[in-house]
Amino acid sequence: MSLRLTVIGTGYLGATHAVCMAELGHEVLGVDVDPDKIGALRAGRVPFYEPELEQLLAKHTASGRLRFTTSYEEAAEFGQVHFLCVGTPQRKGSDAADLTYVDAVVEALGPHLTRPALVAGKSTVPVGTAARLARRLAELAPAGARAELAWNPEFLREGFAVQDTLRPDRLVLGVRSAAAEALLREVYAPVIAAGTPVVTTDFPTAELVKTAANAFLATKISFINAMAEVCEAADADVSVLARAIGHDERIGARFLRAGVGFGGGCLPKDIRAFVARAEELGTGRSLAFLREVDAINLRRRDRVVELARELCGGSLLGKRVGVLGAAFKPESDDIRDSPSLNVAARLRLDGADVSVYDPKAMDNARKSHPLLGYALSAEDAVRGAEVVLHLTEWREFRELDPAALAPLAHHPRIVDGRGALDAAAWTDAGWDFHSLGRAPGA
Ligand code: UGA
Repeated sequence: MSLRLTVIGTGYLGATHAVCMAELGHEVLGVDVDPDKIGALRAGRVPFYEPELEQLLAKHTASGRLRFTTSYEEAAEFGQVHFLCVGTPQRKGSDAADLTYVDAVVEALGPHLTRPALVAGKSTVPVGTAARLARRLAELAPAGARAELAWNPEFLREGFAVQDTLRPDRLVLGVRSAAAEALLREVYAPVIAAGTPVVTTDFPTAELVKTAANAFLATKISFINAMAEVCEAADADVSVLARAIGHDERIGARFLRAGVGFGGGCLPKDIRAFVARAEELGTGRSLAFLREVDAINLRRRDRVVELARELCGGSLLGKRVGVLGAAFKPESDDIRDSPSLNVAARLRLDGADVSVYDPKAMDNARKSHPLLGYALSAEDAVRGAEVVLHLTEWREFRELDPAALAPLAHHPRIVDGRGALDAAAWTDAGWDFHSLGRAPGA
């Protein structure tokens, strides 16, 4: 049955959720305080790159199932379920999560909830937040109104956001009543009918499922990157090692790609906020290892900078370095905490003449790192380079022709910071090929 849903916050998570809920057959109202975002979405433009999303947005703005507003009053009047999808970035000067936006939604929406409604939180929050918000909602909702809270974390990956929302690995429903559970089951009825497992639980467990999942994924990446450090010292090859241990189903092959490490708007800030929250709860020791996970991850960036310096003869001053990739991962134009841009900026600080190219993230990169040099194409980034760094594994880079590129470089030297290029093909084409997690020059 079709429900009336609002999705509050139309950033990455919210825009995707709104569009996908319309695709499931619901009437959806997207809400944001930023009139520019709302204007773009109304005009059928997704303000970031995500495969499939723009077509679905067009489909559902045309069908009339998806509308957008900046008015909380309209949202409260319309919605049976309000999905809370605003960001929880890292707080300035601290490791903890900044809950300003989450709190602001509850403050703005609560007083308008004159009809029975369920507010379902999807943002990644420190454990304990949902219980606090539920208390606040009860205080704010007008007398006699039945406004309830639920916690329904989101696990979508950028680049796969639509399919992760429509066909998730699982649904987690943190609820305090059978009615809340029933309503959320109705929202996701087609997803559940397709066989998606549903885990129903309490608020703190639901909140923790999300942070634990991201902490595990970050740990897996840092584990393989720690192995990469050992492989570099011991003359071994981490990509072969990862393949071999990945055959063991208990370990699994996914998220074992060694390289320049994880970035983005989620894993780095989520593990830091998780540690900060555990310390507040007096259980900091339980998550102390996550500080090491973070440190290993950041050391990989140092390693790429050092390798570039070595390959440039000990100094980066005036040396041309081509950087392939600016987004934190392929199929995204998101540059938040991007390892590629972090490395590029550090090379620039050390005097290198850096030339960055990315298939989708150029505008965002230019805005956030205006002092870097930018190329018009991969070929352009390689032109005149002392060394080329491959730091985001776009398909376009994997499909480059190393033989055609070799004459463009000043020295055909490349560091594959994502273990994604065909080493033999590049070496055969005359490139001095280096990858992370192998002995230098191997
Ligand atoms: C991550 C989680 O994968 C999602 O499940 C979660 O919902 C999301 O955070 C979130 O909290 O919103 P995302 O940040 O989109 O999703 O990206 P991932 O695909 O997890 O990649 C994160 C980073 O790890 C990227 O920089 C990627 O290049 C890196 N990575 C990934 C590796 O270095 N090695 C790997 O083997 C896998």
